[in-house]
Amino acid sequence: MPLLSVLDTLNWFLLLEKSQVYLYGGLAKAAQDEETKHALLQFQDTESEHVDTLTTAIERMGGSPSKISLGAGFLSGLGLVKALSMLERWDVQTAPIISYKSAAAFERRAIKDYHALLDRVEHGDLRDILWRHLIEEDLHALWLARKVDEMQYPSSH
Ligand SMILES: [Fe+2]
Ligand SMILES: [Fe+2]
Repeated sequence: MPLLSVLDTLNWFLLLEKSQVYLYGGLAKAAQDEETKHALLQFQDTESEHVDTLTTAIERMGGSPSKISLGAGFLSGLGLVKALSMLERWDVQTAPIISYKSAAAFERRAIKDYHALLDRVEHGDLRDILWRHLIEEDLHALWLARKVDEMQYPSSH
């Protein structure tokens, strides 16, 4: 399969980032404690910034930012809608653990894709954007992994 063009890849990221806005909104709504809710809302803000930054970058490169927003449909493909609906239905320990693990896996997928594009892009400004997004996704993944660890092994924290 041929590699997607840089513009098409940026549009793919746009889809990914829009889905993350949707995901963190859902997770924040279901969060049971104030700190977690604030963290997830902050992640949602960051993902919205990523959407805006990518939209501008695509336009500057002469492309058309995708208007597609798959939201639940896209997350469903990643098994994340199931995790979200579990959170809404069950007020138990395991639902957030599964959801946060899934969200962390989604972040790691984004990180992998950002790395792959960085291997192909020489343009300075775009590289700055990609690195910024990648590192912010990494921070989200790390926070989520710590949260899962705290929930799974509360006595060690
Ligand atoms: Fe993002
Ligand atoms: Fe993220």
